[in-house]
Formats: sequence, C-alpha cells, structure tokens
Amino acid sequence: MVRCRKFSISLIAFFMLVALKICIDLTYTPPHLPQTPSISTEPYRSPVVQLGPLQGDEELSMATLHNLAQKLRKAVIRSEAFWNTEQLQLLDLKAPMAWTCSNSTSVSQVKVTDPYPDLLQSFLAHSRCRNHRMIINQPKKCSLNTTFLLLAIKSSPQNFAQRQAVRNSWGGERDYGGKNVKLVFLLGTVQVPDLSPLLVYENSRSHDLLQWDFVDTFFNLTLKDQLFLGWANKHCAKANYILKGDDDVFARIPNIVQILSLLDNQRHHSLYMGHVVKAARPYRDTHSKYYIPPSFYAGFYPPYAGGGGYVFFGRLIPWLYLVSRFVSPFPIDDVYTGMCFMALGVHPVGHPGFKTFNIPKEEKTSCSEKPLLLVHRKSPQEMLKMWGQQYEKMQQC
Ligand SMILES: *[C@@H]1O[C@H](CO)[C@@H](O)[C@H](O)[C@H]1NC(C)=O
Ligand SMILES: *[C@@H]1O[C@H](CO)[C@@H](O)[C@H](O)[C@H]1NC(C)=O
Ligand SMILES: *[C@@H]1O[C@H](CO)[C@@H](O)[C@H](O)[C@H]1NC(C)=O
Repeated sequence: MVRCRKFSISLIAFFMLVALKICIDLTYTPPHLPQTPSISTEPYRSPVVQLGPLQGDEELSMATLHNLAQKLRKAVIRSEAFWNTEQLQLLDLKAPMAWTCSNSTSVSQVKVTDPYPDLLQSFLAHSRCRNHRMIINQPKKCSLNTTFLLLAIKSSPQNFAQRQAVRNSWGGERDYGGKNVKLVFLLGTVQVPDLSPLLVYENSRSHDLLQWDFVDTFFNLTLKDQLFLGWANKHCAKANYILKGDDDVFARIPNIVQILSLLDNQRHHSLYMGHVVKAARPYRDTHSKYYIPPSFYAGFYPPYAGGGGYVFFGRLIPWLYLVSRFVSPFPIDDVYTGMCFMALGVHPVGHPGFKTFNIPKEEKTSCSEKPLLLVHRKSPQEMLKMWGQQYEKMQQC
C-alpha cells in the first residue's frame, strides 16, 4: 500500500518534471546563462577549460580564483533577493570570507517580504559555518595515489542497508583492469537515537565512512559537499575522477571506468558529466521540499548535473574547494555545485547513460538498461538483484 502510494507519487512527480521540462524548453532561453551542450551524438567531450594544478601559494591561488569567480557576476541577476545581493557582495570582497562558525548570518538582515520556512531560516543561521569536526575519517583511503575513481556516496547514518547493498554490489572497491576504484560514504549525525556505536562497528569492518559533526538533513547537503571537498583536497586530491552520488543509485562502474579511460587520453580537460538540468527555475510552491522564496533567490539556476549521480575530474577538487569561498551558500546541493562549476567556467556535459530521474516505463524492456551508466531510486534489494543480473544481461543484449 505504502509502496504503491510511493510509486504513484513518484510517477506523478516524474510526469510533472517531464511536463515542466517541456514547458521550460518551449518557453525560455535565458539570455544570461552560457549554453550547455545538450545530449548529443558525441556526449563525452566537455568544453575544454584549462585548469592545471593550483599554485602552491595560497594568496596567488585565491587571486586567480577570485578572478575566475567573477564569471558569476554576469550570471547573477541584479535583484533585491537575499542570495543575489550576498553573492554580488562576496565578489566585491577584497579578501575571501573566513567561513567559520563564529561569522553567522542572521535572518533579520534579510528583507523578508514572504515568510521563510523554518528549514531555510535554520540553513541561513548556519550557512557561514563550514569548519565542522570530523568524527570518522579515512585519511589513508587514497594514500597510494593510485585511485582512478573515488565513489563519494551521500548517505545518512541510519541507511545501513543501503550502504551494505552498495558495498556488496556495484560500489565495492575493486581493480578494473589496473584502474583502482575506492569507496567512501558521506555522513552527518542524527541526534536520536545514538547510532555512533553501530557506525563505529560498521566502519571497523568496511573502512569507508566519513562522518562530520553536523545534523544530517536535506538542507545540510551543501555543507556535506563542502566538507567532502575539503577532505578530498587534503586526502585524495590525486584521484583521477570523482563520482558523487546518492546511496540509492545503481551505477555500472566498468562502463564508467571505460568511458573515463578513453577520455584520459585527452590531456587537458575539465569534466563535469551527468544528467544535465538546464534553465531550471526555483520551485515557488511553498509545499515543495525544494521551495525557494522569491525574496531569497531571483533568476534561473545555472545548468547543473542532477545530484543523484555525476562524475567530475579529480584535478578540479582544489579548484572547487577554494572557489566555493566566493560562492554564496545555497541550500540545494546540486544547484550549489552547478554554481561553483560555473564560477570556474566549467560547463556540465550531458550523458544519456545517467538516469537520475529513473527510466521511463516504455523504455523498460529487458535490454533498455544496457547503455545505462547510473540510475536513481533503487532499493537495496533491487540493487542486489540488478548486480546479480548484470552479466546475464550483457550477454543477451
Ligand atoms: C564576516 O562576515 C562579514 C559579512 O557579513 C564580512 O564583512 C566579514 O569580513 C566576515 N569576517 C570574516 C573574518 O570573514
Ligand atoms: C602521494 O602523493 C603525496 C603528495 O604528492 C606524497 O606526499 C606522497 O608521498 C605520495 N605517496 C606515495 C605512496 O607515493
Ligand atoms: C545543519 O547542521 C547544523 C550543525 O549541526 C545544525 O545546527 C543545523 O540545524 C542544520 N541545518 C539544517 C537546515 O538542518
């Protein structure tokens, strides 16, 4: 019954998204945003932006990044909206903001013409705070400097079954023809019940949890992203590629590794690949989980890759980590990531194999999942089943 309702809700949501997308496609071409390449016959080549290793000198790097971040200035609509105003101010600062917990925003600074939901207020109250302590770390995860692909999977403390299914299926750490794949799960905390003994035990077996001291909620996912980038910058900056995804996706790692290996022959590239969402606008429906009040953000979102799963070039880690100091916090994590990439001048590139909105029913024949790289919304059981069947399918199709 619950399953059935969930299914019909997701079906309705899916059709609404399709309808919304068609509507957006027909009615709008935002003049202020650079065009993203749409899914084409040659989907694997992203526009080439040359971002080499960052200068070791922090001040020089920050100056470079500050200049790069000015790209955002053209994209931000001049408006009284809180985020837009803050963003333009951030770009004017002479020195980058410190982003420590002592420097927090009060919502009273915001010109509220429409009441902010509690979650958004709570987000704003903590949004300057990015220096959370680590509770569980894996400092040696990439110590051999041979990681080809790092799977960084957003999970929540209570999702034990999802994590186990990921480990035991597509996400297990393996060597794919000499290409090393490593796995970490990104977690915050839950206050009640205290799951820490269970997590410590889980980690003693799997050595793949990263946990920080913040409450793991939807509006803290941007914070999770930032903390992950800080970790990766410190402990895994040599990884060739990062796959960032949710713990309810199923990914075909051999296929992804193969595509990325072919890419690797091109020397300079800056990859940000997934299911690209173009010219989306904030949800203005106050009941939506994604609701953003007009007085908070004005304009379109930058093109971004759906947060269910996307891949990016490892060399971008320090760039992303540092440029996010010039990008004003935004509560929806995949949109925020899109903003950071935009600040660097890196455009997302679409790949039809990323199905972050699941597969349309008519495509669901037994072979429809062959070109699939990543699909969203799978239960642990479905994940294990797909894993069991994948070799069979490859032979049939
Ligand atoms: C704290 O935030 C304000 C903006 O509200 C900024 O002017 C100031 O420089 C920040 N302080 C630090 C140490 O970053
Ligand atoms: C990995 O790279 C780091 C940074 O360049 C270096 O300090 C470290 O010695 C390397 N580790 C190995 C095992 O090569
Ligand atoms: C994010 O985490 C902080 C630190 O634990 C917490 O105080 C805050 O309420 C959380 N924010 C949201 C929107 O849940």
